[in-house]
Amino acid sequence: MTTLTYLGHSAFLLEADGTSVAIDPFLTGNPRASHTADEIAPGTILLTHAHQDHLGDTVPIAKRTGAKVIANAEIGYWLESQGVEGATPANHGGTVAFDGGTVKFVPAWHTSSYRHGEELIAAGVPSGLVVRFGGNTIYFAGDTCLFSDMKLIGEEGLDVAILPIGDHFTMGLKDAARAAGWLGAKTVIPCHFNTFPPIEQDPNEFKRLVEQHPNMTCVVLDPGAALDL
Ligand code: NI
Ligand code: MN
Repeated sequence: MTTLTYLGHSAFLLEADGTSVAIDPFLTGNPRASHTADEIAPGTILLTHAHQDHLGDTVPIAKRTGAKVIANAEIGYWLESQGVEGATPANHGGTVAFDGGTVKFVPAWHTSSYRHGEELIAAGVPSGLVVRFGGNTIYFAGDTCLFSDMKLIGEEGLDVAILPIGDHFTMGLKDAARAAGWLGAKTVIPCHFNTFPPIEQDPNEFKRLVEQHPNMTCVVLDPGAALDL
C-alpha cells in the first residue's frame, strides 16, 4: 500500500514499504504547509521545476538526509553546484529509477526560473512527472496549462492525477477538469490553490466538475491529510 500525504500547495509525500518520496517540497514560507522541512526525511525528492514554490526546501532537506534529487538537467546541474550529492539531472521522455520506484519526465507548459541573489536565472523547462511507486502510477502535472498531449500522458495508465487548479499561473477549475477527462485517472486530486490570493479557488467546485466524468473520483485533501492508495 502507498500512502500519499498532502503537505500543502504542490508538495506531496509518498510512502510505501519503508521508502518515501517528496515532490516539490516547498514548506518554509508556505502558509499552508502541514510540516516543516525538518519533519520530513525522504529518500528521494522529485522536482517539476525551479520556481521557489516548488524547489522550496530541496537543498537543505537533501543535504540533511542525502536524498537523491531528480530534476530537469539545468536544475540538476545547479543542485550539483550547490553541493547536493544526490542531484540527478534528467529530461523529458526519460525514466529514472529511485529507491522504490521510477519517474518519467513529461512536458508541462509553464516556465522554470529561480532567483540567485539579484539575478533571475532560467532553469531549463518545466516537467510533469509520471511516478510509478508502491504499485500505483501517479501523474503530478506540476504547473501547467491545459495541453492536448495530456491524452498521451493518459496512455501511461494512470491511477491518480494530481492537477493544479489555482488559475492565474496554471490551469483553473474548468481546464483542469477537462485535463482530468483526457488523463482518465480513477482518482483526481487538486493542488496549487488557496496558498496565495491570486490562486484562491473553490476545490469543491472542481470536484463537482471532475465527477461529471464517469467513474472518476475527486479527493480534496487538506494540508496534512493522507490518502491510502
Ligand atoms: Ni511555477
Ligand atoms: Mn507554482
